[in-house]
Amino acid sequence: MKTILSGMQPTGYLHLGNYEGALKNWVTLQDKYEMYLCVVDWHSLTAEYENTGDLKDKVFQMAVDFLAGGLDPEKCAIFIQSEVKEHAELHLLLSMLVTVPTLTRLPTYVEKKNDQGLDTYGFLGYPVLQAADILVYNADYVPVGKDQEKHIWLAADLAKRFNNLYGPTINEPQVLLTEIPTIPGLDGRKMSKSLNNEIALAADEEETAKKLKRMFTDPEKLRKGDPGRPEICPLYLLHRIYTPDHEDIVAPCKSGELGCVDCKKRLTVNLNERLAPIREKRKKLVEKPDYVIDVLKDGAIRARRKAAETMAKVRDNMKLKYY
Ligand code: TRP
Repeated sequence: MKTILSGMQPTGYLHLGNYEGALKNWVTLQDKYEMYLCVVDWHSLTAEYENTGDLKDKVFQMAVDFLAGGLDPEKCAIFIQSEVKEHAELHLLLSMLVTVPTLTRLPTYVEKKNDQGLDTYGFLGYPVLQAADILVYNADYVPVGKDQEKHIWLAADLAKRFNNLYGPTINEPQVLLTEIPTIPGLDGRKMSKSLNNEIALAADEEETAKKLKRMFTDPEKLRKGDPGRPEICPLYLLHRIYTPDHEDIVAPCKSGELGCVDCKKRLTVNLNERLAPIREKRKKLVEKPDYVIDVLKDGAIRARRKAAETMAKVRDNMKLKYY
């Protein structure tokens, strides 16, 4: 069985974008691969090192969403990065093999540095830590979106470089490119926690209705009766995902017969229906926090076992063994 590793930063409650873009895909992959899913708390420190107070809750809520969304702890190891110290050790060793310009050239680095003024050593090493996450499990594939592709290539380069220097040790991972559907947020921009335009899986039905009421639609359709343009409407993008007969909306929207208020009500019903099983499962999990913690502990035990195997070889081949 081939091995898959992926990770997600503990942002707390998952939103529709996280679900459609990553989690749903993982759920299908868990049947076919040996799978490791890592809540990358150390990565989140690169930007949030000053605010660690709510880290614990964010990690917990994310684990709950993973399970409610369909990950099966019998099939995949779900664990917290910092519980497997081997990631840090391999990060350090790999950091010797990568040049600073290689890291400063990465678009993810340039963008975030400019956006957030981040200029720390830890942040520069973000993709090296990510490479360690992957290589420490000898992963064959890494399911990620296009924005992460270069990070996986770096991981593969580092594996190759390691193998050239010290002999065949680490597998060169490949990207398993995930087709990430565009999930618009309430303001029409990409759904994202930092833009505060998200709908959480955990939101209840009323909250979902309330949020969708504020959602942007075609800015030129001001009232019912005005002709709408589904092709540019962010609300319609969500209908395409959650409304099975979404094509039936097009004509009445264009003619003005269907107003945005009713259109939103239809989406609310469909979305709530789709999320109901996840939300129900979620409620049960939140009532059993010990179970969720046990899943994470058990996941870490399995992850450590595999990571320790890799690191034994890494140390051996690097001649880091003295007695
Ligand atoms: N950088 C990834 C992201 O922002 C998260 C991540 C950390 C990751 N380590 C990983 C993804 C290892 C895949 C594999 O989405």
